[in-house]
Amino acid sequence: MPEIHFNKKKGSQLKLFTPGPVYVPKRILDEMSKPNDTHRSLAYREMHQLVEEGLKKLLYTSNECLIFTSSATGIMEACVRNLLKNDEKGLFLSIGAFGDRWHQIGVTNGKISIKEGVEWGNAIKADLVNELFTKDQYDVVFVQANETSTGVYNPLEEIVPIMKDHNALVCVDATSSMAGIKVEVDKLGIDVCLASVQKCFTIPPGLAVCSISQAAIDKAKEVNNRGYYFDFLELLKKNKVHETPNTPPIPQIRALAAQLDYILNQEGLENRFKRHTQLGEFTRKWAVERGFEMFPEKGYESNTVSTIKNNIEIDISKMVSTLMDRGYKIVNGYGDLKNKTFRIGHMGEITLKELKEMLEVLTGIISSMK
Ligand SMILES: Cc1ncc(COP(=O)(O)O)c(C=O)c1O
Repeated sequence: MPEIHFNKKKGSQLKLFTPGPVYVPKRILDEMSKPNDTHRSLAYREMHQLVEEGLKKLLYTSNECLIFTSSATGIMEACVRNLLKNDEKGLFLSIGAFGDRWHQIGVTNGKISIKEGVEWGNAIKADLVNELFTKDQYDVVFVQANETSTGVYNPLEEIVPIMKDHNALVCVDATSSMAGIKVEVDKLGIDVCLASVQKCFTIPPGLAVCSISQAAIDKAKEVNNRGYYFDFLELLKKNKVHETPNTPPIPQIRALAAQLDYILNQEGLENRFKRHTQLGEFTRKWAVERGFEMFPEKGYESNTVSTIKNNIEIDISKMVSTLMDRGYKIVNGYGDLKNKTFRIGHMGEITLKELKEMLEVLTGIISSMK
């Protein structure tokens, strides 16, 4: 195995331009190696509280913020189990693989799960939401902010208020955009906004977070069989004293507390969002100049992951593996989009300079393959 992929002493030597997990800088890894107290200690509670307060600022919300020992999929399942009664209708708005996954979670939990969507590459717009709610009533809506498979960002400002006007609870999966693209939870009225930390937060995997509105908390009180591990009410009970019901990954929480402080007080929220916009714009310009087309419809492209069409019919697997031998990793298309697209992640702590360096190497590889 080439040293560049894995080094016994140093770990992976690849620079990740992936849509998560992402490249984690040393300052975050160092944070994780500091000594810990138990999860029932004052030291832990102080750290947990810092995360809660940081998340509220990041999400522009006064809603409670929870920490889950799971990846994002755990909170996606929690939303289904805690917020949807068995005789109620859940609307799963899918624009790609992760929307489909949320619908499957609804189905496998025995809930009435209606999937609606648009052709992959497109976004959910106001017209569709208006049409759906004119025909029927839904109790809870489940929708992605950023669909990581297609690289489409749904216009939440346009669609969430319509769902709220129809008295639906709204759960937003912001897994690949939270801490990279601004979401104003209270302004939009989002009831649950969730993400895992191995993407834009730039933390190694093992933890997920969400905000939860009072309306969602009140609803959970009326829902039976919420399950045990992901019961919102048990998590909230412990969150009141800045703890979790079970043993959490304390090093990840320590890193998240430090990273939120970095995001809010060193880089600054607006600067962070602006940097991600620049990374997205640069990648799209690079792709088009190389003769590629973007997979997402114009105006709805994500600024954290670029899904690029393989319209020039390049051998994507070869391109990806050649780039890995040069020390960088990008990824093939997700699921059905494999070989039809490839994806460049530009989230987390990636700088424009680093992105330019990687794209220069990739340009050389593509030229040599044509
Ligand atoms: C939009 C979206 N939702 C959900 C998930 C699942 O996240 P996790 O692997 O943290 O459960 C992902 C993972 O890539 C994602 O991109």
